This record gives sequence, structure tokens and C-alpha cells, in this order.
Amino acid sequence: MRLLDHKVAIITGAAGGIGTATARLMVDRGASVVLADMNLAAAEAAALPLRRAGGAVLALYLDLADEGSIEAMVRASLAHFGSIDVLHNNAADLTPATAGRDHDIETMPTEVWDRTFHVNLRGTMLCCKHVLPHMVSRGAGSIINTASNLGMQGNLGQAAYAASKAAVIQLTRSIATSHGRRGIRCNTVSPGLVLTQAARDNLPPRLLEIVAGETLTPHLGEPLDVAHAVAFLASDEARYLTGHNLVVDGGTVAHVPGFAQFCNLFEQH
Ligand SMILES: NC(=O)c1ccc[n+]([C@@H]2O[C@H](COP(=O)([O-])OP(=O)(O)OC[C@H]3O[C@@H](n4cnc5c(N)ncnc54)[C@H](O)[C@@H]3O)[C@@H](O)[C@H]2O)c1
Repeated sequence: MRLLDHKVAIITGAAGGIGTATARLMVDRGASVVLADMNLAAAEAAALPLRRAGGAVLALYLDLADEGSIEAMVRASLAHFGSIDVLHNNAADLTPATAGRDHDIETMPTEVWDRTFHVNLRGTMLCCKHVLPHMVSRGAGSIINTASNLGMQGNLGQAAYAASKAAVIQLTRSIATSHGRRGIRCNTVSPGLVLTQAARDNLPPRLLEIVAGETLTPHLGEPLDVAHAVAFLASDEARYLTGHNLVVDGGTVAHVPGFAQFCNLFEQH
């Protein structure tokens, strides 16, 4: 018996990065998986090797900014697999047009704030809203929302992203509270820096060095590190776990400010 046998999972933003890694792991653990993404061609490409290896997967178009598209994605998932046991709200608008202009609030174009909240928070809320009636009718379900360590810490920029992720952490608690007695668990995963291909290609080496200096583990995070946390929260092994914010960041939010300098001061590495 595998961890996720007989479970059907929707993963949003599954066309790349953490979402694809989670889809791969969930299929490996026995789940049937919907890979839902705005980039349908990339979602299809991510699904193909999983299908060839015998996995039950379906790639679907999803635009989190459009409620009709969310409803259609949920309907199509149910029509194909017959049920939804797990919803992993992983997608976020990380495009240059949005995340690339998300500075401090004085310099950020207001439409960047609106777009960030529209996709990252409203889109996440709407996926929950349209999946919940089905989960309630079965008396079971696990929702895992993706936030970020930046939802808990101040940063020089990314003001809209950080506020949207802080709100996702709170949305999780609201759903866990309103729907727990109806058999539905809702948790957050908050990744720290994760070395997706995009992060490897775009982040300057100096930035990675700085983050590594603040990380308690000897390595930075990989997409699979987050995927394992999500698969656990999705599974029945986590049946007593709800309303939680599982931080997957190598301990960067766990330590005292100045940790990297203290390491130098006391010559600890
Ligand atoms: N990579 C990191 O370092 C890191 C750190 C903290 C949190 N996170 C969070 O983890 C999640 C995944 O991050 P990632 O690095 O794998 O990102 P990614 O950019 O590789 O994946 C995001 C996916 O979401 C999709 N998407 C964007 N807008 C959409 C929309 N409107 N509708 C539907 N799909 C849409 C994209 O097409 C993309 O496939 C995000 O929520 C991100 O905020 C990532």
C-alpha cells in the first residue's frame, strides 16, 4: 500500500517547478493527479512522462484570475476521475510583469498589488470554494495551500507577494476551522528559497550565497523537499494535522537575527 493510493489530487501551477515535482511524487505514491496550469502546453509536457510510466494524470487549463476557468477545471477533474481528495494550491503569479515589479509599496505600481492578490489569494480562495462542496459531500478532503517564508518576514521588496502569502496562511486557518468537523483538513506549506530551474537560471550566485548563510541545513531546498511535505499533508498519516503552517525552509525563519554574522564571529560553519 502506497501513501496516496486511491487518492485524486488537483495541483495548480503544476507545469513546472515545485508543482511538477509534487505531481511526480504524488503519482509515485499512488495518486491520480490533475496538473492544472495557465500554461497548458507545459502542463501536458509535465504530464506526458508520468502517463508513459503508467500514472493516471490529466493536464487541464486553469487561469486563477478567472472564476469560470476554476469552476471548469474542477468540473473536468470530477468528470475524469470521479472525486477529489486533495487540492494543492501551488500556483502563484511569479511573472516578470507582476513579481518583477513588486517592490516596496511606494514604488510598486498599484496594479501589481491588485494582480498579485487576484491570483495568489483570490485564486487560491476560489479553488477552495469550488472544491469544498464536493469534499463536504464525501465528508473528507485535504487542502494544502502554498505560502512562503516571506509571508512571515519583512523584506526590502515583494510587499504584495508577502502580504498575499500572509493572507494565504490565515485563509488556511479559516478553512480548517469552518470545515474541520466536516472531515476536511486544511494546511499551509511555506517554502523558503527553493532551487527550481527558474531559480537556478535567474538568481544571482551572491544572493544564493547570502541565503545559504542564513540556512541551518547544509544545503538549499529542492522542489522535492516541498513535494514531500505536501504529500505527507495530503495523506491520511496527517489526519490529526490541520490549520498548520509547515515551514519548509531549512530553518531560515527559526533562528535569531544575525545568525550568519554570529557564525563568522564565533568561527562556526
Ligand atoms: N521557488 C521558490 O523559491 C519559492 C519560495 C517560496 C514559495 N514559493 C511558492 O511555491 C509555489 C510554486 O513556486 P515555483 O517556484 O515552483 O513557481 P513556478 O513559477 O515554477 O510555478 C508557478 C506555476 O503557476 C502557474 N501560474 C501562474 N499564474 C497562474 C494563473 N493565473 N493561473 C494558473 N496558473 C498560473 C505558472 O504557469 C507556473 O507553472 C508558488 O506559490 C510560490 O509562491 C516558491
